[in-house]
Amino acid sequence: MSYCINPNCRHPENPPTINFCQSCGSKLLIDERYRVITVLGQGGFGKTFEVRDRDGNRKVLKVLTYIEPKGVELFQKEANVLQRLRHPGLPAVESDGYFTFKPNDTSNSLHCLVMEKVEGKNLQQWLESESYRPIDSHLAIDWLTQLTEILNLVHNQNYFHRDIKPPNIMRRSSGKLVLVDFGAVREVTETIQRATGEVTRISSAGYTPEEQKKGKAEPRSDFFALGRTFVYLLTAQEPKNLQEDSRSGKLIWRNLATQVSKPLADLIDDLMGYFPKDRPKDTQVLLQRLAKLSLRPPSPSPSRRNPRFALGWKQVVIGTGVAGAIAASAFAMQNFSKTQADKFLTYQSSAYNFKIKYPEKWEKQELQNPVINDVVVFISPKKNTADPYQEQITITIEDLQHKPMSLDEYNKLSVAQIKNNFTDVKILEENSKTVANNRGYTVVFDDKDGQTNTKKMQTWTLMNNKAYVITYTAEKSEYSDYLKTAENMMNSFEIN
Ligand SMILES: Nc1ncnc2c1ncn2[C@@H]1O[C@H](COP(=O)(O)OP(=O)(O)O)[C@@H](O)[C@H]1O
Ligand SMILES: [Mg+2]
Ligand SMILES: [Zn+2]
Repeated sequence: MSYCINPNCRHPENPPTINFCQSCGSKLLIDERYRVITVLGQGGFGKTFEVRDRDGNRKVLKVLTYIEPKGVELFQKEANVLQRLRHPGLPAVESDGYFTFKPNDTSNSLHCLVMEKVEGKNLQQWLESESYRPIDSHLAIDWLTQLTEILNLVHNQNYFHRDIKPPNIMRRSSGKLVLVDFGAVREVTETIQRATGEVTRISSAGYTPEEQKKGKAEPRSDFFALGRTFVYLLTAQEPKNLQEDSRSGKLIWRNLATQVSKPLADLIDDLMGYFPKDRPKDTQVLLQRLAKLSLRPPSPSPSRRNPRFALGWKQVVIGTGVAGAIAASAFAMQNFSKTQADKFLTYQSSAYNFKIKYPEKWEKQELQNPVINDVVVFISPKKNTADPYQEQITITIEDLQHKPMSLDEYNKLSVAQIKNNFTDVKILEENSKTVANNRGYTVVFDDKDGQTNTKKMQTWTLMNNKAYVITYTAEKSEYSDYLKTAENMMNSFEIN
């Protein structure tokens, strides 16, 4: 098909090869370059098309169909911002991406913006393709961080999006997110409808905050929409269909997203504060809060090892050839009492310069999520097929928040973070401990992972301006079963 973009054309669908619209006579080769293949979207004063250039490359064309000076100015601003902000999280716009087009039968020129076509699905289509299975906390933190980083760039240009919602976020096949459909057209719509006193149609039901409905949109309006977007992703329910608490006015969604840790749920609720001042102040503040969330990832719920959720995780199984070489390593083995009969392997991280021994029977997963600082996790075997909770040891490496930092200061910060980031925390023990021949610290505490009562031992040391954190996590009643193994693993830890 070859589509005619003249908004007044009565029969815009034309055969694919002709050069002028059979109905209105307008050019079908837009800017002598682009042929329109399909309509992707249609708002009040703008339309989005998929086009093909002369070389057959697919692009996206946005056309402003309402001509009025303020509208044109805003549309040009969107073009300008996208041209300047070259970032994988935004569709690329070339320097010749903005132009005007004159249909055959009107005196008005249409304003056009051609941008990169992002391959992939938008998040609404994506969730559908996942059979509406809600995302987990890890993916939520990763995506929320990606989107906040994109918004950080945009807000720093004194610009904001105005229409964040799942259909306006694309997921590249690499898993990276891209924000599309910037709000220029929407702002034109708002301006015009405000002038005419018409305010109802401008909102994306469930995503638009009150101040924006009243014509007082500001950068923090994007935060509200972002919060609602994550409610959708974490519950697979449209926010407009959810109830609000009659007293606080807050959306009731947490009961539908039990996989979400309390600190993450709190952050999402803060994004959706009724007044802009109730939300995080700006993208920097939001990024800091996200960094804290990922500093101590919520610990192992069974879903974390579900392949569906193992996004970005790489599972590596050491072959027996490597195991043979490791058996000859110089570590003392006699202390591994409980599992003494077991063989131990050495895990060596060349990227992070450490090594640690672990029982051969334990599964090892190397992690590659740049947001969460976990490097590797060792998982105990299931005791029987019904064993609901597998004990595990996780190694996390964090950059220090400021450098240099004393161990005392880090200890205080970390204990505060434990109390903050886990659920129902009760600290049981705190002690100095030598880790990797270095001064370190260890904390034992009870907490909860979903419905399961868990107990953790977290041990760390600081070196090379980094914190090396080893966490043993167990179901509370089974903590002692692998304690000796965990201690021995911690004692075998070396930084080189
Ligand atoms: N640059 C792009 N690359 C690929 N797909 C896009 C791009 N921009 C928009 N889309 C897709 O087209 C749909 C409609 O486009 P959009 O710009 O959001 O227009 P509107 O919401 O005004 O209809 C989006 O939901 C998205 O799926
Ligand atoms: Mg859209
Ligand atoms: Zn036409």
